[in-house]
Amino acid sequence: MHLLVNTGGGDAAGLNAVIHAATVAALKKGWKITGIRDGYEGLLQKGRVGLIPLTWEKVRGIAHLGGTILGTKNFGHPFAHPVTRNGKTHTIDVSKQILHRFKELKADALIVIGGDGSLRIAHRFHEMGMPLVAIPKTIDNDLCGTIQTFGFDTAVSVATDAIGRLHTTAESHSRVMVVEVMGRNAGWIALYSGLAGGADVILIPEIDYDLKNILKKIKEREKSGINFSIVVAAEGAKTKGGNLLYQKTGAGKKKRLGGLGEKIAWQIEEQSGKEARTVVLGHLQRAGSPTHMDRILSLRFGTYAVELIAQKKFGNMVAYMPPQMRAYPISKAIKGVNTVPLDSDILTTARELGISFGDI
Ligand code: F6P
Repeated sequence: MHLLVNTGGGDAAGLNAVIHAATVAALKKGWKITGIRDGYEGLLQKGRVGLIPLTWEKVRGIAHLGGTILGTKNFGHPFAHPVTRNGKTHTIDVSKQILHRFKELKADALIVIGGDGSLRIAHRFHEMGMPLVAIPKTIDNDLCGTIQTFGFDTAVSVATDAIGRLHTTAESHSRVMVVEVMGRNAGWIALYSGLAGGADVILIPEIDYDLKNILKKIKEREKSGINFSIVVAAEGAKTKGGNLLYQKTGAGKKKRLGGLGEKIAWQIEEQSGKEARTVVLGHLQRAGSPTHMDRILSLRFGTYAVELIAQKKFGNMVAYMPPQMRAYPISKAIKGVNTVPLDSDILTTARELGISFGDI
């Protein structure tokens, strides 16, 4: 058997651990395994330049490292691949070219390590006849069918540490600190890190907030003699009927969420007269070494993906359904978004502890 493996979308801590485990599992079966550089890009390049043969030596000692030894792309879609000709960029479908290259390399299966976008692409390739299995990656933890994605625990741990540290400076200066964390469609990172880090207000995409409720919480704390507050805001949170906030990007560049923390801090200063500052954690949440939870989850994902291939269970994603790893159809995984359920006991716990979600 010859396996190909790629990493797609934004990176997440644990990618290298997945590559390590999948490679070891494949080599132990006597199979060959090759990494594709930068998502599918490597399959569009001539010769061997876009390919990384995965050997014992290549994957030794990488499981604890952040990033991906294969490289990844957060844009570039095989079905809408951007090309620039005469200064103008347009998109073309290169999926047939990729499928042709897959066959040319005499590959038997592909392991796709990615989030929602990568799973959608994988589903289309599977429908075109490419045998593949997927592994759920995203720090946002917003994929359906699996209890957890890898990368999430590391992101929460970085954010929790940052929120915890901000207490002392917030209190010293009697300020409000607004911490913006990632979370496009789902507020898992904000909820977990806000709860673990001792936030007073947590804003998540699942619950529309109203500024007046944030101000009310800050005032309540002032009245009880606490001179500082910590607000944790997921980048995708918004007010009722409000719009998502995007950063300024270069011409033609994909829209990027961001700016909510700064907006809220400014509004708090304007309306309460209290000093406020913003901290945007951004890509720190994706960077660096994975936590032990993410390492173990990633190693299990990588090993199980090879097992699914051995059983020819193509078109499936490896899903973590504690205590087991299971096969879950990619076609089902791409149907929804794993958002924070409004009846979740974690939300109830947070509310019981006096944390405001900006809705009441
Ligand atoms: O999907 C994960 C994510 O971390 C989002 O929360 C965030 O909006 C996005 O990636 C940013 O990705 P990049 O800056 O790499 O395009």
